[in-house]
Amino acid sequence: MAESAVLKPSVVERLATGEPHQVAAQAVSLVIFGGGGDLAHRKLLPALYNLHLDGLLPAQMAIVGVGRGKMSDEAYRAFAKEGSAQFSRRPVEDNRWQTFESKLFFATATIDDDNGFAPLGKRLEQIERDLGLSGNRIYYLAIPPSLFIPTVKELREAGLVGERRKAAAGKDGESGPPEFARLIVEKPIGHDLASARSINDAIAEVFDERDIYRIDHYLGKETVQNILVLRFANSILEPLFNMRYIDHVQITVAEEEGVGTRAGYYEQAGALRDMVQNHLLQLVSLVAMEPPHSLDADVVRDERLEVLRSLRPIVGDQVDQCVVRAQYADGFDLGKPVPGYLDERGVAKSSRTETYVAITMFIDNWRWVGVPFFLRTGKRLPKRASEISVHLKDVPPILFNADTSHPLEPNLLSIRIQPDEGFSLTISSKIPGPRVRIYPVKMDFHYGATFGGTTPEAYERLLLDVMVGDPTLFMRRDAVETAWRWVMPILDRWAEQSPQPLPRYAAGDWGPPEADRLIEAMGRRWRPL
Ligand code: BG6
Repeated sequence: MAESAVLKPSVVERLATGEPHQVAAQAVSLVIFGGGGDLAHRKLLPALYNLHLDGLLPAQMAIVGVGRGKMSDEAYRAFAKEGSAQFSRRPVEDNRWQTFESKLFFATATIDDDNGFAPLGKRLEQIERDLGLSGNRIYYLAIPPSLFIPTVKELREAGLVGERRKAAAGKDGESGPPEFARLIVEKPIGHDLASARSINDAIAEVFDERDIYRIDHYLGKETVQNILVLRFANSILEPLFNMRYIDHVQITVAEEEGVGTRAGYYEQAGALRDMVQNHLLQLVSLVAMEPPHSLDADVVRDERLEVLRSLRPIVGDQVDQCVVRAQYADGFDLGKPVPGYLDERGVAKSSRTETYVAITMFIDNWRWVGVPFFLRTGKRLPKRASEISVHLKDVPPILFNADTSHPLEPNLLSIRIQPDEGFSLTISSKIPGPRVRIYPVKMDFHYGATFGGTTPEAYERLLLDVMVGDPTLFMRRDAVETAWRWVMPILDRWAEQSPQPLPRYAAGDWGPPEADRLIEAMGRRWRPL
């Protein structure tokens, strides 16, 4: 297996010391399977272009899109430019683009071919020879999960990873550090625990765990990284994060868009697999984790994992009480009529795939025992808004809170993940005047107003971290499987229920009435966003 030294300091350590991000210095080929696909077009190529603008890419680098079809390098560069023009956070400037596009190539590879990836290997070697690259490779699986295992196997068969490459390099009598081969895996890693294990087993036969970077792009968001800083760099906050002071926590990830063109994937997934198993559970981990004893990547990941391990399982008929699922019906998006989920292209008329989930969950450890965490996520909600709100306990009903007909609003910390990134703290304050009248005032921080500019996209941070070899913001195998283990009893319960249509909510509404009843049953209400 290729050695890959983890460079220090890790991303979180740099955050802590305010150091700028490391520049990826080692020459590398980034090989993107699915290079002609939607993810590459909308996210990966624009992110790489922005890293180039910031001077953060290695001076010597090839970015090789791989796909089944044929495409010239020129056509691939045009494809990348179009994607960047449309989706990059900064405009495409012609002279900067030219230096960037000289790194871009396209290669064809098919799995079902006898020769497998041998021609791809030759093409990569040719590109590397032409550019004088040392042979470090990052393989990015931006392809459907059904292709993960065959692709990784083909990589091994063709000698594109590990011992055979190392041996081949050794034959030439070359000295210097051994080349690395890293793997980036996009979600979803499986559609249940068993399939996640199979994928993890198959890739473990080819890559070392330390060379596998499983993406949960929420971990790359600036605001998500800031959760750790908020908690562990502020002595006014961290002492409050426990069952003594917190009444409950709400985590909302709301999307305005519908399923769009992704019905083929989404029909097999649904909101629980697509959003909760990964993104929302990662947010829970960050809000609830214990302070790690150091900022070393694995120490931070161990603490995140501990939270997942402490989630109280929701099993059997508890699922009916603690989990609500629903589907969007037709409705409106910004005043424009939009179809219901069942009328979307590619969706079966009898589909029971949920586009909305709300969950009441508990974390069974000393810090959080008895504190409910309410999660909700859905498509076709009124707006794109993701927030973690931490609701503090009521002030005792004496002094300023003695009038039970006008209770004080409890303090609230709202961490806005997107789109208006920032956080606010709501505090009771006296309205000036002779009488004591109390009003909740907001201390509000907006990234844009304070730091200016546009916040880097999650994929910029994550791609750079793989290049420098920092795994902190990636999912370890144990975390992926522990999250699946928690989700499975919910999926199992749903699978055994009679095939009635799911509850509905009109597109443009905040979910079904069942979700209101879920939280009201616990004496709380969803925070209006
Ligand atoms: C993806 C899901 O992981 O996250 C999508 O597959 C979802 O269904 C997306 O739309 C949301 O990401 P973001 O960054 O736009 O909140």
